[in-house]
Amino acid sequence: MATARLFEPIEIRSLRLTNRIVIAPMCQYSAEDGCMNDWHLMHLGKLSLSGAALVTIEATAVLPEGRITYADLGLWNDQTLAAMALTLESVRRWSDTPIAIQLSHAGRKASSEVPWKGGARFQPTDAFGWATVAPSAVPYRDGEGAVPEALDREALKRIRDAFADAARRAARIGIDLVQIHVAHGYLLHQFLSPLTNRREDDYGGSLENRMRFPLEVFDAVRAAFPPDKPISVRLSATDWTAGGLELDQTLAVAQALEKRGCDALHISTGGLHPDQRVPVGPGYQVPFARAVKQTVRIPVVAVGLITGYDQAEAIVGTGDADMIALARTILFDPNWPWHAAAQLGARVRVPKQYLRSQPSRYRDLFESE
Ligand SMILES: Cc1cc2nc3c(=O)[nH]c(=O)nc-3n(C[C@H](O)[C@H](O)[C@H](O)COP(=O)(O)O)c2cc1C
Repeated sequence: MATARLFEPIEIRSLRLTNRIVIAPMCQYSAEDGCMNDWHLMHLGKLSLSGAALVTIEATAVLPEGRITYADLGLWNDQTLAAMALTLESVRRWSDTPIAIQLSHAGRKASSEVPWKGGARFQPTDAFGWATVAPSAVPYRDGEGAVPEALDREALKRIRDAFADAARRAARIGIDLVQIHVAHGYLLHQFLSPLTNRREDDYGGSLENRMRFPLEVFDAVRAAFPPDKPISVRLSATDWTAGGLELDQTLAVAQALEKRGCDALHISTGGLHPDQRVPVGPGYQVPFARAVKQTVRIPVVAVGLITGYDQAEAIVGTGDADMIALARTILFDPNWPWHAAAQLGARVRVPKQYLRSQPSRYRDLFESE
């Protein structure tokens, strides 16, 4: 039986993943003062039993003002750390699936309502709002919320240190991989894009200057996280907007990150500008992952409307990407990796409590965790 490429193991620095399916970060907007609670235990518990090789904790703010909404997760103090430690301890008691965390700062997209209440930007004077910051004083939409304050050097240092502190906390509770969020229009992406970065100092203008702050954050996180543990970066390869970030610039960023010791790149697109025109369709971001993969030697993850088992196998099998990430797909079908393994004639790890669910026509599908 030919082995499905989707179910071949892969190593990222010292982290061994049993297959090529990773769960993308997904905000749950259910935290209290940045703290995990029972919802996160249920959600992460479920995902950690899915057969995917890596679960990524949602965008986790490194500072309170870096949250998208008041209900975002954080890892900025002892309370947020203790709540996450408790949740992960419970998850780990029953699953050995590695756990990653996405560290983030929302920049000008902070101070918003949760999506199921419309997602509007709050004014700093609103009960659930606060003043936002960004590379330059350019709001997401004209006339919405308040204009973000342009960050000065002191503030940049504070944010960089907050990313490093959060990475140190993540290490203390045994997180296996840190992903730095440089995508979807949040703060570090705002530095990369000429549409949001109008700075005239060392952090704006040329691409070299625009990538300076994201790279400084990378270096600080790398120095703070244990040397044997991997760090990945999530990038939006294009802004899908005239005058915005484009693929050729992203390739240069990818190379710069690889040179500094980045272990994997997760390639998404968009999220920066309300005028974006995204040609959404099956695998619509895979060509960007492929282009990045042709430029670097580190593993590349593709994401975005990857829903089919053969589709996923083809992405990894033809070398478009080394791994695939699932978001909506795995919420819709939390046992997607089991079904993919069945379809592709591969084996997948399941909790021993569920071994008896193996359908008789798939005799060798399951192996126990
Ligand atoms: C509920 C939900 C929450 C999300 N939260 C995040 C997040 O915290 N960080 C992030 O980088 N992307 C986030 N995304 C985007 C996904 O990680 C993913 O890139 C996108 O949904 C495309 O993959 P899919 O077609 O498999 O859903 C979120 C998507 C969904 C559906």
